[in-house]
Amino acid sequence: MERENFGSKIGAILAAAGSAVGLGNVWRFPIETGQNGGAAFIIVYVICILVLGLPIMISEFLIGRYTHANTAGAYRILSEGSPWKWVGRLGVFTGWFILCYYSVVGAWTMHYTLLSAINAFYDAPASQYENIFNSFVANPWMPTLWLFFFIAIIHFVITRGVKSGIEKSAKVMMPTLFVITAVLTVCSICLPGASKGVEFLLKPDWSKVDSTVILQAMGQAFFSLSLGMGCLCTYASYFDKKTPLAKSAVNVSIIDTVIAIMAGFIIFPSVFNIGMNPNEVGVGASLTFISLPNVFQQAFGDGTLLAVVFSTLFYFLLFVAALTSAISLHEVATAYVTEEFKMSRKKGASLVTLTILVLGTLCSLSFGPLSGIQLFDRNIFSLFDDFSGMVLLPLGGMLISIFAGWVLDRQLYRDEISNGGDLKTPYFKLLIFSLRYIAPLAIGLVFLDQLGVFNFMK
Ligand code: PFF
Repeated sequence: MERENFGSKIGAILAAAGSAVGLGNVWRFPIETGQNGGAAFIIVYVICILVLGLPIMISEFLIGRYTHANTAGAYRILSEGSPWKWVGRLGVFTGWFILCYYSVVGAWTMHYTLLSAINAFYDAPASQYENIFNSFVANPWMPTLWLFFFIAIIHFVITRGVKSGIEKSAKVMMPTLFVITAVLTVCSICLPGASKGVEFLLKPDWSKVDSTVILQAMGQAFFSLSLGMGCLCTYASYFDKKTPLAKSAVNVSIIDTVIAIMAGFIIFPSVFNIGMNPNEVGVGASLTFISLPNVFQQAFGDGTLLAVVFSTLFYFLLFVAALTSAISLHEVATAYVTEEFKMSRKKGASLVTLTILVLGTLCSLSFGPLSGIQLFDRNIFSLFDDFSGMVLLPLGGMLISIFAGWVLDRQLYRDEISNGGDLKTPYFKLLIFSLRYIAPLAIGLVFLDQLGVFNFMK
């Protein structure tokens, strides 16, 4: 079967950026930045990207493009007969596993887009927002219905193929995402008192930066860039041989970071405008679905057209960001099933979709009828979330960097990254040094930290 490629360099970069820009940019990065030293945190974050994120992203790109295969196939080809082939399989599993719970949140963003558009938050007292969210997620039908809808859209894009599905949708959705982000940023920055929000986000405070913050920045960089699993490797397997790998990785990282910082400019001016304490807005779902709808109503005038438009655009933005990331996660598994088990794309995608529907529904229902099913004090959704974030991603990242630094043939690496000698690679030695020593060590520390080992020692 003929393997498709992306049709253009810009299409390839937008697709990879679509994978990177996701919920993580909005619901984690801004609040972590504000609380952990503002510009100081951003500098630490950028350093993490430079020394850790870029080398791993470039390696994932390289492995995918060189082998022109799905992630499991790619590692098998490069490590014939050795246990390293399991790294690829782990990547496929991780992507598939993340998609199960990530889609649930994607579905919530659709519901909140609709609620905002029909002005459902009008006149709701501040205390009401928690009820609105809790009763929505506990409902056995609504979130599941949205989930089916969200997954149906992913399925539609994936079955259309690499060029007319993934690439085409990225070419429409990513520019849309940039425009909405820009419009919302301008609106938010024009609010009275916005400068306090900007100050909260940017004022450098190095006294807040300690080892925990550095580890947090590393973990965030990792999740945000979609590293440690098969996404970027799979997408790179559709890159053309002339695509400059290092430059593409730099572009994707810049887009991802800029959007994350802008998300902060959307959120915090409004928070300060209504006199709320940024330390009370929460993080993740509670920030996004409980604090922010309230903040936007109050900041832009309860029930006014401006509030409706701002809030609707914000949730639509989140929806688009989640969707492009979810598509990349689905593609990892679809490419694997199609190529390794020689199925048609339609069949492979359907199989993946079906499994995601079943497990996603379980995750979704774990806030309602299935909330009684708990392990380690976590419902099913949190088990998926924590296991992938705390175990699968760091483990994958560590193994990928060791594989790229120690196992992969050095000459092969150099040839591929320089496109057969066409490009200069003055950073090559540094890159390998990071892959061999810094990245595995740093990710190992994040891993231990997330498992709570350091807290335990304290
Ligand atoms: N990078 C995405 C985000 O920031 O939300 C999430 C993600 C997508 C993580 C794909 C991992 C992944 F493979």
